[in-house]
Amino acid sequence: LSARYENVLVSRPQPGVALITLNRPKALNALNAAHFKDIASALKEADDDTSVGAMVLTGSDRAFAAGADIKEMKDKSFAEAYTSNFLANWEVISKLNKPVIAAVSGYALGGGLELALQADILLVSPSAQLGQPEINLGVIPGGGGTQRLARLIGKSRTMELVLTGRIISADEAEKWGLVSRVVPEDIGVVNAAVQIAATIADKGRVAVAAGKEVVNAALELSLAEGLRFERRLFHSLFATKDQKEGMTAFAEKRKPEWSHS
Ligand code: HXC
Repeated sequence: LSARYENVLVSRPQPGVALITLNRPKALNALNAAHFKDIASALKEADDDTSVGAMVLTGSDRAFAAGADIKEMKDKSFAEAYTSNFLANWEVISKLNKPVIAAVSGYALGGGLELALQADILLVSPSAQLGQPEINLGVIPGGGGTQRLARLIGKSRTMELVLTGRIISADEAEKWGLVSRVVPEDIGVVNAAVQIAATIADKGRVAVAAGKEVVNAALELSLAEGLRFERRLFHSLFATKDQKEGMTAFAEKRKPEWSHS
């Protein structure tokens, strides 16, 4: 499977889990067009694969990704960026049906952090360094950083990151509520992410997809709209076999057997 991609490795560390590893180490996983195409294709392929229940996205120990490829971007004109709709396919992870867990070690900067922010669950190792340094390049974040960070960590902290370019540590990111947790080195961030993905892959897929969709909607909708959407999706799950099985199994004191339907 992974042989088909030049810039990412794909493996199956556990049944139901696809592990996608960014692999352009010489450039600290800077995201050029070819690299990004591979990431998007590998994620889409795992999303479409019925044997996969959840994905883990990771990089190397030194860098999750040090941003969009500056050398590739530097000579672009406004007209080129605008008319080619540069970054049009960027929102790839947020469009996937299945959950993605990002496991971040080392640098997650600029587009690298924005890629991680699109994941559904974000875990970091103690070595993680997160930031939006675009201001040092004469630009601003363009992959969702300003909007997602403002919703996740509030205005003041987002302004500080975006306007000063300061890099924050794993502990600070945890304190700010930007990540689920810092995973100690002896456990390993990828290992922890794979365990979470395996746990999710063991659940009924219909309910998992509904849970992902409605939590993500919380970042976009008003509270009233979001609550209505949640209630309707909740109601709709009573049309699934997995709901009947899950609740019957509870009543019969046995483990449910999901049919994912
Ligand atoms: C292209 C990059 C790169 C990047 C690192 N490299 N980041 N190439 N684009 N974003 C390359 C370096 O040029 C170098 O290649 C090699 O990776 C190793 O990097 P060094 O700088 O030598 O390593 P180090 O001294 O350890 O410094 C690490 C670093 C630094 C602090 C992460 O590389 C850095 O500041 N990188 C840029 C971070 C950044 O500004 N990111 C935001 C990009 S803008 P050579 O060939 O010299 O060995 C962006 C916009 C997003 O992301 C838009 C939406 C998607």
